[in-house]
Amino acid sequence: MSKDKYTVTAALPYANGPLHLGHVAGVYLPSDIFVRFLRMNNHDVAFICGSDEHGAAITLRAKKEGISPQAIVDKYNGIISKAFEDFDISFDIFHRTSSELHHETAQEFFQVLEEKGHFTKETSQQYYDEEFDQFLADRYITGTCPNCKKPNAYGDQCESCGSALSPTDLIDPKSTLSGKTPVMKETSHWYLPMQNHEKWLTEWIKEGKLDGVQQHDPKAWRNQVVGQCMSWIDNGLRPRAMTRDLDWGVKVPVDGGDGKVLYVWLDAPIGYISATKQWAQDKEKDWKDYWTGDRKLVHFIGKDNIVFHAIIFPILLKAHEGLVLPDNVPAYEFLNLEGDKFSTSRNWAVWLHEYIEAHPDKIDELKYVLTAIAPETKDSEFTWKEFQTRVNSELADNLGNFVNRVTVLTQKYYDGLVPEPGEFTTLDQSIIDQMAEFPTKISELIYQYKLRDAQAEVMNLTRLGNKYLAETEPWKMVKDPANEERVRTIMYIAMQITAKLSIVLQPFLPATAKKISKALNFVTTDWSHAEEFALIPAGHPTTKAPILFPKIEDSLVEAEIEKLNASKVVETTFDPQKEDISFDEFLKMDIRLGTILEAEKVKKADKLLKLLVDTGLDKRTIVSGIAKHYSPEEVVGKTVSVLMNLPPRKIMGVESNGMILMAEDEQGELSFISPEKDFKAGGGIR
Ligand code: 2FM
Ligand code: ZN
Repeated sequence: MSKDKYTVTAALPYANGPLHLGHVAGVYLPSDIFVRFLRMNNHDVAFICGSDEHGAAITLRAKKEGISPQAIVDKYNGIISKAFEDFDISFDIFHRTSSELHHETAQEFFQVLEEKGHFTKETSQQYYDEEFDQFLADRYITGTCPNCKKPNAYGDQCESCGSALSPTDLIDPKSTLSGKTPVMKETSHWYLPMQNHEKWLTEWIKEGKLDGVQQHDPKAWRNQVVGQCMSWIDNGLRPRAMTRDLDWGVKVPVDGGDGKVLYVWLDAPIGYISATKQWAQDKEKDWKDYWTGDRKLVHFIGKDNIVFHAIIFPILLKAHEGLVLPDNVPAYEFLNLEGDKFSTSRNWAVWLHEYIEAHPDKIDELKYVLTAIAPETKDSEFTWKEFQTRVNSELADNLGNFVNRVTVLTQKYYDGLVPEPGEFTTLDQSIIDQMAEFPTKISELIYQYKLRDAQAEVMNLTRLGNKYLAETEPWKMVKDPANEERVRTIMYIAMQITAKLSIVLQPFLPATAKKISKALNFVTTDWSHAEEFALIPAGHPTTKAPILFPKIEDSLVEAEIEKLNASKVVETTFDPQKEDISFDEFLKMDIRLGTILEAEKVKKADKLLKLLVDTGLDKRTIVSGIAKHYSPEEVVGKTVSVLMNLPPRKIMGVESNGMILMAEDEQGELSFISPEKDFKAGGGIR
């Protein structure tokens, strides 16, 4: 039987920031494991990625950093691709959507669809920011989500509940450029009438059939993916604009397209194709072989990308004709960090490049832990404490210890030469039988995208080895010469387990597998060899393995947690600037310094203090809403800012003559505004 051919893609990361562990756990590491495994099994495979360099994600970041979009994408493409390289993610190509080849490819794709009549052109009213002279699509507009009612949903998607939105769905929309309520203005765009595709999509997603022909096994798709797609379809698909009024992006290549670019979610997935083209060119292959015929196209993505990869891109691929549709879209849930969501804006993240810089010798440790906790079917959480526990007990004590013991004892008893086994006992045979089951079990799990369970099985093989040694205790038996043959047999079997580990570990912990291979002086990258028992013959020379996983000290955990907390940014929700006033209006306010002479609580009002204030002109009573922030005792003697010329007002039965001005931080904490020098009451404030 010929082997399935695969084109595996990993979601193109936006080049608007570095990668954090959430991205790694939910896309790049699982896809890398899957591809390494496929390669070991001699599948013809292309592993494609690149940076997503268009869209509002980029231009808004450029605005924030005060540099051009091109400078932004160059900067982050550099950081991201270096991190991937250092972390040893084995892409065949890491391309860029700003490349010329991509622009050409995306434009050609658009043209083909336009010529085949797959788009409609519609004129409509869209939100527009008059101050910035710009239409507001996608991330340029935020508001309250109509579905979950949370604030700060984007014009294309709510990140809280994941629902896809149009700008006009938002409640109380605001421009992210000026912060103001936008106006409506007319514009024309090319739309994809998605509603025309509901029927075939339903059959394809639910039954895996296209025009009645079986394409993929629908049961192999994750529930979450099928569920999200069907909920979209059941709610009725709507036409979706495929162009935008922006200047950063792939120019619309047809008449009437001036000043418009392709929608980033049209351009980005085509990035998989242009990246394949570039790679094929470099390797003198034909890119079409990777996108047509009996290819299995697999998209590794995060759950917020499901509709784009399982509905919109398939519609485009099918409309283009002749290209394959995805065989599976393994989507990952979200990884949280120390009890909170990863957040770029709050800087609540462990950044991959920073981890690598701080712990260049602990790459496999991170890979192991991220796979062990991967958010395959539900959200999961990374904590430094769990990182330490898993590395120390599972990697160091279980895997590292086993490999070390086997190679050290072989060194000690037999000068490193694999010993000749004697006859196998019932126990030996049972171990050999159990060993034999692992490669198939692991491989079945990987083909089902259950990488977490697959890695756990690898660890179970190690546990089997440890258990075998603990039960037989060759280090005790060796003391009695009568056991000489028995010890040889045990060590021979333990050595075969170690050799098997050096194979099945490769997709997950490639660097560790290499170290074991080196110590055993035994290398194979062919997965099928793992099915054999006798991998290294008697007499084969081996060496002592190095310590594979030094223990993680408490100090590392403490330092990392401290670093996280120290760099955390508290998100601000300050009010936007108020309307302009004239200078004369400002001068009308009489603000001066006053010293608080007496203070008491206002009865039945837990927020209010009644103050007697010396203003330099007089001593007057002012009622102030500061009782939750200051006790009467602590305010007496303070010199504060007083707005003098507010008309008297009765508050809870007490007449108040003026107002104490307070500063407020983003959490609503209040503070007096007091002179920094020792000024007396009566001084004016201008
Ligand atoms: O969500 C994201 O980070 C997108 N940049 C993913 C794009 S995937 C593909 F379509 F290119
Ligand atoms: Zn929502």
